[in-house]
Amino acid sequence: MGLKSFIDTDLENKKVLVRFDFNVPIKNKVITDSSRIDLALPTIKLLLEKKVSKLVMMSHLGRPQGQNHPELSLEPIAHYIAEKLGIEVYLSESATDSGIKTLLNLGHIKIIMLENLRFHPEETQGDNEFAKILAEYGDIYINDAFGVCHRKHTSVYQLPGLYPKQSTFAGPLINKELSALTKLIEKPAKPFVCVIGGAKVKDKIKTLEKLLIKADKILIGGAMAYPFLKAQGQEVGNSLCSDEDVSIAKTLLSRDKGSKIHLPIDHIIASNPNSKPSIQDDKKIPLEQSGFDIGPKTQKHYQEFLSSAKTIFWNGPMGLFETDNFSHGTFFIAEAISKTDAFSVVGGGDSVSAVNKSGFSKDISHVSTGGGASLEFIEKGNLPAIQILKYTH
Ligand code: 3PG
Repeated sequence: MGLKSFIDTDLENKKVLVRFDFNVPIKNKVITDSSRIDLALPTIKLLLEKKVSKLVMMSHLGRPQGQNHPELSLEPIAHYIAEKLGIEVYLSESATDSGIKTLLNLGHIKIIMLENLRFHPEETQGDNEFAKILAEYGDIYINDAFGVCHRKHTSVYQLPGLYPKQSTFAGPLINKELSALTKLIEKPAKPFVCVIGGAKVKDKIKTLEKLLIKADKILIGGAMAYPFLKAQGQEVGNSLCSDEDVSIAKTLLSRDKGSKIHLPIDHIIASNPNSKPSIQDDKKIPLEQSGFDIGPKTQKHYQEFLSSAKTIFWNGPMGLFETDNFSHGTFFIAEAISKTDAFSVVGGGDSVSAVNKSGFSKDISHVSTGGGASLEFIEKGNLPAIQILKYTH
């Protein structure tokens, strides 16, 4: 069931305050993956078509720990949106700048963007006074920042509670995420196959525990594979492998449902990420070498499971996909998923960039905008900021 949307509400002449998740990768002031902003553009356009008097956008970027870090300014994002929509976007000096009130009273100004919320320590502390300041910027509050709904941060947790029920809405991206992720965990069509990669077992243990119950197969790749292999007594050379991760992997493998976990049967190895790679046609990785990608036999093996799946969830790349030599496993999995008829969901920051880079994202049923948020939703079936929106509806 979706949350209350603003689509059918008259917003003419209203000041609308919207929390987006514009936390996108930026290098030297250049946005390197604009997906999260692009997905928000239709919502911005819709609000303008609804003739709101002001659209006040807010977001965080990175983790500046309550300090003003110029490299984490939302300026490139304001600029990008202004260019895409052909409309001026006024970026405030800070989220509490007294000049915002003046901007709100200037008739010709339509879009205001608050500077990075996390330049204020109060944003991550869940602070009512900070929430009250933000609430003065809009008559209507919309949360469309799914990626941050697992945080009890002021702009998504305290702020909506300051608005009357009829003035609080969930945005279209949140509703889309809820519908896809709920479908995945409530009654997934079987076989339900998960592909889990990325760096640390520890960070994903709760998700893995939940998926062991819900899924039929869990195909492991990326750096996550090595602690599992080591837990099985395999040699993993110099591959990334903390003792803590090995012990967690051992516990998961020993569970009743541990046999659902499948591990790579060959690897792409090298002595370091910049040296010449070779195929290791075996589970074990020689001394002085590290695994950086799944090998061709593993790709085919995993493809067989994927081709008969009816539901697929993918989180975490299969290797160091940012480096061409180690990108094949990840892109192969993206293509294999894109060719199935399964209901497929990709979630998690790195896997989303990987699927976008692979060129197959249009054939995936749902590419989640949430990293940690999508994993926590799968684990718990709810998120703090979503729960708050339910109360305020
Ligand atoms: C994300 O990128 O997952 C969200 O924007 C949340 O960011 P955070 O992990 O820094 O809270």
